[in-house]
Amino acid sequence: MQKIPAHIAIIMDGNGRWAKARGLDRSMGHQQGVVAVREITTACSNLGVKFLTLYTFSTENWNRPANEVAALMSLILTSLEEELFMNNNVRLRIIGDLSRVPEVVRESILGLQQRTSVNTGMTMVIALSYSSRWEMTNAVQRIATEVAEGKLTPADINEQTITDHLSTNFMPDPDLLIRTGGEVRLSNYLLWQCAYTELYFCQTFWPDFHKADLVKAIEWFNHRERRYGKTSEQVTKA
Ligand code: IPE
Ligand code: IPE
Ligand code: MG
Repeated sequence: MQKIPAHIAIIMDGNGRWAKARGLDRSMGHQQGVVAVREITTACSNLGVKFLTLYTFSTENWNRPANEVAALMSLILTSLEEELFMNNNVRLRIIGDLSRVPEVVRESILGLQQRTSVNTGMTMVIALSYSSRWEMTNAVQRIATEVAEGKLTPADINEQTITDHLSTNFMPDPDLLIRTGGEVRLSNYLLWQCAYTELYFCQTFWPDFHKADLVKAIEWFNHRERRYGKTSEQVTKA
């Protein structure tokens, strides 16, 4: 493999259908999804990926049946094991509207974020109660406040200002986005950040997504020519 993407974002979809196909409860699919998270996190860390951003729970997922929301919240609480981060030297960062998350979950993940901040390897970003439109609305509110306070003028606002006010301001844009589970949509994930991201969709349900599938996606990424609006001739010129 020639190029390892510095930032991989994943929409981990298909847990429910994975469970249904086996006659199991949807929550079993989420539990099996955690096993895939462990395998893919370790694989990314070993491959030298710098940022792995996992869509774990969207703003819209709050509209699911209360029992599924509760099962997901308790799974988040029990599955983020410290060893996964410490053994792989991985730092945890959380993005999303944590004010909506139960206090016990919030305290636990913020504590883990704090304790793993000493690690120097890959950063694993959990998008929890996250949506791009929530994030952008938030950024616009904060920029407007700075303008109202006279810290910024409207003419000062540029693309960098917006990037800096997003919750992802500590990392580069994703190079590769993977969506498992067969749907071909972004479901309100990293809309600003994915302007030039390579988008990879596969049928595999998230609990069945293994290291070999990740490698396949990275190989596909290696065959993309990232032109950023230029011509092929321009970008291949040394
Ligand atoms: C993704 O799997 C996990 C979350 C959205 C939390 P789904 O639960 O969406 O699984 P499907 O799409 O119903 O199969
Ligand atoms: C996107 O999956 C959110 C996560 C994977 C956390 P969904 O299953 O919620 O997306 P839609 O509703 O099919 O677009
Ligand atoms: Mg889904």
